[in-house]
Amino acid sequence: MSHTSQKVATTPFEGQKPGTSGLRKHVPVFQQANYTENFVQCTLSAVDDLKGSTLVVGGDGRYYMKEAVAVIIRMAAANGVKKLIIGQNGVFSTPALSCVIRKRKANGGIILTASHNPGGPKGDFGIKYNTANGGPAPEGVTNKIFELTKTLTEYRICPDINMDIGQIGNKDFTVDGNAFTVEIVDSVEDYLGLMKEIFDFDSLKKLFSGSLKVVINAMHGVMGPYAKRIFLQELGAPDGTCINCEPKDDFGGHHPDPNLTYAKDLVDLLKKGEHGFGAAFDGDGDRNMILGLNGFFVTPSDSVAVIAANAKCIPYFATGKVKGLSRSMPTSGALDRVAQAEGLEFFEVPTGWKFFGNLMDASRLSICGEESFGTGSDHIREKDGLWAVLSWLSIMATRQLSVEEILKSHWGKYGRNFFTRYDYENVDSEPANKMMANLREMVSESNAANFINKEYSNSGKAYQVGKADDFEYTDPIDGSVSKKQGVRIIFKDGSRIIFRLSGTGSSGATVRMYIDSYEADESQHMKDAQEVLKPLVQIALEISQLRELTGRQEPTVIT
Ligand code: G1P
Ligand code: ZN
Repeated sequence: MSHTSQKVATTPFEGQKPGTSGLRKHVPVFQQANYTENFVQCTLSAVDDLKGSTLVVGGDGRYYMKEAVAVIIRMAAANGVKKLIIGQNGVFSTPALSCVIRKRKANGGIILTASHNPGGPKGDFGIKYNTANGGPAPEGVTNKIFELTKTLTEYRICPDINMDIGQIGNKDFTVDGNAFTVEIVDSVEDYLGLMKEIFDFDSLKKLFSGSLKVVINAMHGVMGPYAKRIFLQELGAPDGTCINCEPKDDFGGHHPDPNLTYAKDLVDLLKKGEHGFGAAFDGDGDRNMILGLNGFFVTPSDSVAVIAANAKCIPYFATGKVKGLSRSMPTSGALDRVAQAEGLEFFEVPTGWKFFGNLMDASRLSICGEESFGTGSDHIREKDGLWAVLSWLSIMATRQLSVEEILKSHWGKYGRNFFTRYDYENVDSEPANKMMANLREMVSESNAANFINKEYSNSGKAYQVGKADDFEYTDPIDGSVSKKQGVRIIFKDGSRIIFRLSGTGSSGATVRMYIDSYEADESQHMKDAQEVLKPLVQIALEISQLRELTGRQEPTVIT
């Protein structure tokens, strides 16, 4: 069918600035006339070589996704895109979309998700652009998108293109005399193929035919179909292994965030002592939480360190050398110790997955993670929840140890980093900004003489400030500099207190406070992290004056 594109006059919307991970706003914001169209136009306009390009499109099934897919089809057609590859019914997990961009050598992709933020008519929606390497667009691109949103006067669209995105196959159009194709593909197929290349499915099958009972919780997010296909169909796991695996556009009214607060049901289930392994994913499938028998919790900071230390249990790494390791700045130092012991290159990068991509593309990074339940490797350019789960199961299958035994032996070898994160959600922006400004001033070079060597004590523990700054990162590959990435106070024993504001929230401010402390003494390793870190938490609250400034006495979430 032949179509002609149209130009529609529009005016800019304020605040269309992509955050840590794309543009995230409440659904009604995206539903405003032209709001989605404006942002999609600026995203497309920021793509190099847009004319004749191939883009991958999909999302986590949340409310408003299908409408957004329809808009993208009409606008991609009108902007000279040659081909769109779309997951059936518009569905792709974030890792799967990254995989498809790479496998099919697409020019980039658009992901429709607000990740772990709640969904539904009053929940959040999000649009994120990924580049040809399969990873989140670097700041250069997101800044360009934002600049374009400020001056946009018109967008291009083919309003009469309507198609069924539930039907697998190609649909061809002619738009302004040029060919335009939409290919609807199975959402799981390419990703499953990649997992089969990375892991030994036969050995994993044996694990599932043994006595280990596993439970996988998709939290009604996009991972349902992936989990069912891989665990039930491919690995022969018994029925009942996959729970909350029916995707819902509002995630059943819950926060689809796999942590101790929002996935408490899973923790309680594991505490019954029937399952030796449990895992949960977030709405778009890039985050994961790992639990062992009786609800034994693996911190994400430990999880990535364990995977790195046991990389040989994963066929993908068994043959070639692991190239390098990396973590985001607030993530605990557990991974650093593995890198040191293995003689591997190591990178500390700012929060957000986009910083890992350059290192991977330059073949200097294999395994990386963030404390925020993100773990992954250079098989794609996004964090990958299911990959982390299959990595853990591979380690268990090879070493024939329980989750807890694996952790104990890891701490025995490397020592333990106790870690916690306090989140204060929906704080008023003004006091939150004031608190950060005060902290920045405190750690500024001009104030260093007053602050360095200062001693703080609480509950009989004393800590002396060794180093303090507002974290700044220079990308070793392209030399780009990212400033103001979080205030760090590093004490002389290596313990760290970190403060930053979230870049993914859709309203108000979220203050994140991270505490990391190393313990070499094995007799202390089984202590409760919250107990161990209590003095440092109090010191962090004292230094920041968080309670006084924000009025918040307790955090919303403790991890
Ligand atoms: C949060 C996490 C960060 C992660 C991002 C996207 O960002 O802290 O590690 O990369 O979500 O999943 P924040 O809200 O802290 O900016
Ligand atoms: Zn996510």
